[in-house]
Amino acid sequence: MAADRILTHFNELFCPHDPGHPLYGSEMNEATVLKDAYVAFADGKIQAIGEGDPSAYVDEHTVIEDYSGKVATPGLIDCHTHLVYGGNRAHEFAKKLSGMSYLDILAEGGGILSTLNATRASSFDELYDKSRKLLEQMMIHGVTSVEAKSGYGLNWETERRQMEVVRKLNEDLPVDLVSTFMGAHVIPPEYKANPDPLIDQIIAMLPQVKEEGLAEFVDVFCDDGVYNAQQSKRLLEAAKDLGFGTRIHADEIASIGGSAVAAEVGAVSAEHLMMITDEDIQKLAKAHVIGNLLPATTFSLMEDTYAPARKMMDAGMAITVTTDSNPGSCPTANLQFAMQLGCLYLRMTPIEVLNAVTVNAAYSINRAADVGSLDPGKKADLTVFDCPSLDYLLYYFATNHAVAVYKNGACVVRDRQLVTE
Ligand code: NIG
Ligand code: FE
Repeated sequence: MAADRILTHFNELFCPHDPGHPLYGSEMNEATVLKDAYVAFADGKIQAIGEGDPSAYVDEHTVIEDYSGKVATPGLIDCHTHLVYGGNRAHEFAKKLSGMSYLDILAEGGGILSTLNATRASSFDELYDKSRKLLEQMMIHGVTSVEAKSGYGLNWETERRQMEVVRKLNEDLPVDLVSTFMGAHVIPPEYKANPDPLIDQIIAMLPQVKEEGLAEFVDVFCDDGVYNAQQSKRLLEAAKDLGFGTRIHADEIASIGGSAVAAEVGAVSAEHLMMITDEDIQKLAKAHVIGNLLPATTFSLMEDTYAPARKMMDAGMAITVTTDSNPGSCPTANLQFAMQLGCLYLRMTPIEVLNAVTVNAAYSINRAADVGSLDPGKKADLTVFDCPSLDYLLYYFATNHAVAVYKNGACVVRDRQLVTE
């Protein structure tokens, strides 16, 4: 059968291996890189990939696009974002620069609490318009699938509004969104002394989240000044009982047992892990919990300690690299920058980083059957970069290399602009 569209003559085409499970440890440094490569799309799916002459897939209806001098990867997957929120935190920037810590700003009612107020005060349309712009920026930077967390409402009405925005964006834009309910993102002052009743309230929201199909995953911020390990575990176990996938923000600021919780409840992923102990790395590796690493957050928090990615891979863990896009600890839409920091500060190889944002990220959002590699039959999601080599994409930092993006076989970004018709 002839292809609908063939993209030809890529200098390099990154083809991750999908062995039916996330890439663990040393597997992360393996991939096939095709030269003078083509990708053929049929019916919105990958039909074939190869080197040299694609004429076997061509007939008079096939659209052929020549990408000489460029490289391509499967559509990038940003598997940890806080996409939907009101306001921004630019007014706290001076405090941050003067040395006030993230938790100190939170403790005086700023930080996540300030975004909570702005989000509660925003209508559905306001949240939708704002998140749509951010999502479009992510797409322009090469992203075709995004995980999006709620968590700036804390009350049911606002949490639901955030998740409804995610659902509508998923319907309206050519990008796949995977929704995570993160009601347990912050503790307001009135619950500081005893957050347990708050956990009860969040647990009580879970059946409704399920019933309305608002989220597939449940996440919790387990850290100093937020939820402790026991509260986090109680929430994630309740979520698991209802059939949600689970994830946890763990060991971002302090190591208080979040990774152990991830291993005990069988979470799909544990996120951040900057402060993880060697012992907890072993626990995550043994329980096959994916480590979602967010180096742009460490960078933006101006911290010195990046997640010990090499130790994790040495222990046999699967890891991803993701933005954490949010108004506080990581205001960016640029996954490529996080990837470049993955090389520079997590000391990952370009191949490891590319596997992290494709096949492993697909497993982390439970979409590996559809996306994350270029195996025939998966969605025809592809990102084209104006780079002479894959190494260049990781080496030349803080610019947008993505020139074209394909989603389900359709070109949705061309010349760094959204295709609107
Ligand atoms: O992943 N750590 C908790 N949540 C976010 C920050 C959200 C915010 O500051 O608004 C994070 O870093
Ligand atoms: Fe986060």
